Amino acid sequence: MEKTIAVIRGDGIGPEIVGEAIGVLDAVAARFGHCFTYREAPMGGCAIDAFGVPLPDSSLQTCLESDSVLLGAVGGPKWDAQPSHNRPEKGLLKLRGAMELYSNVRPARMFEDLASACPLRPDIAARGIDFVVVRELIGGVYFGEHRTDEAEGEQKATDIMAYSEHEVRRVAHVAFQMARKRRHRVTSVDKANVLDTSRLWRRVVTEVAREYPDVELLHMYVDNASMQLIRDPSQFDVIVTENLFGDILSDEASQITGSIGMIPSSSMGQGTRGLYEPIHGSAPDIAGQDKANPIGTILAAAMMLRYSFDMAAEADAVEAAVDGALKAGYRCGDILQPDCIPVGCREMGARIRERI
Ligand code: IPM
Ligand code: MG
Repeated sequence: MEKTIAVIRGDGIGPEIVGEAIGVLDAVAARFGHCFTYREAPMGGCAIDAFGVPLPDSSLQTCLESDSVLLGAVGGPKWDAQPSHNRPEKGLLKLRGAMELYSNVRPARMFEDLASACPLRPDIAARGIDFVVVRELIGGVYFGEHRTDEAEGEQKATDIMAYSEHEVRRVAHVAFQMARKRRHRVTSVDKANVLDTSRLWRRVVTEVAREYPDVELLHMYVDNASMQLIRDPSQFDVIVTENLFGDILSDEASQITGSIGMIPSSSMGQGTRGLYEPIHGSAPDIAGQDKANPIGTILAAAMMLRYSFDMAAEADAVEAAVDGALKAGYRCGDILQPDCIPVGCREMGARIRERI
């Protein structure tokens, strides 16, 4: 098969980790007889430096014309002084909106070989961590009106959180369909004791649930959910929640697995085109030093193979290669354990590539 992949290397460690993921994709192409063509799409701080804006039209066009998008990470302290409308993150938000990527899937899974890195109490970790956060990605307060006014001698800032029924319904379907392929349980997270948007969310999710009688639905307030994630993460299978709650809970979820550098994510809309990225950030403190862990990005490339290209065997091969490299004892700095072999970003990529 021939596929065109838009490549957003981004800032900080982005170029290093994306380089290793492309190396793995090339190994997949060679073994399975595919042809992947990569098209560069600058975005983030590097695009601000080169073009004055975080997402140039040409990059957006490249993404919209490609079969899928692979992203490293964007942002860094260098661009902290940018006005809010021209920050690196704005490029990512604009891209999500323009590609209509309404569902963001972030698996939180504890890797067997990395259980000792889990920060939870051993008896809690022993119950297992394997759930998925489905985050609504192009609605809510992220995409409502943002304003700062002068009022009575001081500044007043406003951010509007809004949801329409159809925005809730379509992401709820993603969650229920995912639960059908897993352990048949959806936990919908909201703040329905305070927010109108949450009351609407809860009503629509409950309606959608009627189409999935084989899936159990629970509702949980977001403050309780953040506590339950630490108290007993084994109770969760699929969590579905709105944009801002999902941003916060998915960081918490990834941290409790002990391996934030290992977790990929997919953002999808109606069609098969998606945006795939590791969930971690651009880690400017270690950029350019061959220290970053490329596994999150490599597993994001595996998700791309599986969900956008329908290449299940190829995705399995990548995931098995990652497991193989870990089993052989190779570890980047973020997951270093006693008696393991410390490797840099490039060598980790090579160890995975040779196992495809
Ligand atoms: C994420 C990030 C982004 C978000 C930022 C970079 C805008 O934190 O993908 O979770 O808040 O969505
Ligand atoms: Mg985030």
